[in-house]
Amino acid sequence: MSDSVYSGPERVFSGVQPSGRLHLGNYLGALVKFVALQATHDCMFCVVDLHAITQPQDPKALADQTREIAAAYLAAGVDPKRAIVFPQSAVSAHAELGWIFNCVARMGWLERMTQFKDKSGKDRERSSVGLFDYPVLQAADILAYRATHVPVGEDQKQHLELSRDIADRFNREFNAPGFFPLPEPLITGPGARVMSLRDGSKKMSKSDPSDQSRINLLDSADEIANKIKRATTDPHPLPEAEDGLKDRPEVENLVGIYAAMSGRPVASVLGEWGGAGFGKFKPALADLLVERLGPVTAEMRRLMGDPAEVDRVLKYGAARAAAIAAPIMAEVRAVVGFWRG
Ligand code: TYM
Repeated sequence: MSDSVYSGPERVFSGVQPSGRLHLGNYLGALVKFVALQATHDCMFCVVDLHAITQPQDPKALADQTREIAAAYLAAGVDPKRAIVFPQSAVSAHAELGWIFNCVARMGWLERMTQFKDKSGKDRERSSVGLFDYPVLQAADILAYRATHVPVGEDQKQHLELSRDIADRFNREFNAPGFFPLPEPLITGPGARVMSLRDGSKKMSKSDPSDQSRINLLDSADEIANKIKRATTDPHPLPEAEDGLKDRPEVENLVGIYAAMSGRPVASVLGEWGGAGFGKFKPALADLLVERLGPVTAEMRRLMGDPAEVDRVLKYGAARAAAIAAPIMAEVRAVVGFWRG
């Protein structure tokens, strides 16, 4: 490739870890965007089980967790004939390119990653090397397919910047201008950062000890209604305009969820609800969530009861993914200078 800038086709790649239950943040930050992008782009949606084992997983449960994430993709509306849905560990290119990128990325780059600091906490010395190295594998996920666009929630922004740094450094170090694209994060709309229902300064997360802090994709209608009813707010009515959301993070979060779930801008939601109290707004938000998530939850449960169907999708996806990665990896090996008999 002689161009200094990557000039190949556009491709979308994203992944979700099979570690614990999916929540509304994953749905709005990732899944909803996957469904929209498959209409316009070649898309690959991976279940990143290699990433999941950076923290302890039960080997007896891991394959089912992988199926559960695939079921969520499909239930949300990902079409497995169009988009490629597959498990990361089924395609060895991820691990292979991950190793090569380990030799491209610098210690200092990884030491700046805030997610490692958050996840390792006080136990840094006892964390797996994999947890530290996690974002390098993420770069390999994307670049093994020369993906150009990556839909994620805002918490992945720093990892995506690292992917771009790794791609750029590889291209320079191996004197291969334009070999890898510098992948662009797609982080848009109020759904890109869904916060905890109990504390508007923390993101909604699987690891929050309080289940009241999040809406899980498998929650019942009653659970959703109860969690929204108990969500932290303040005694004032909803503001009429967006600047009235300043310093009211919990209110901003609920309005953002309403906007993302209804596909409307925040300003339009406030145009309708400004001046109303939470006694009115919360039940409307709960109804909207139940109406939108109910069919997704039902389809997810159906698919989880039919693992053979999900396995067919994953197998088909793995074969398609491997076929895309193979010629790219052959080029990578040549550029790096590995022996070829
Ligand atoms: P994971 O499994 O933690 O989360 C999956 C997706 O959900 C998004 N997300 C959120 N979005 C909005 N609000 C929230 N509160 C929220 N919480 C999570 C995440 O940003 C993500 O898009 N490192 C990734 C997985 C990964 C990946 C990749 C992603 C591995 N390789 C390559 C893109 C490309 C992760 O841990 O996601």
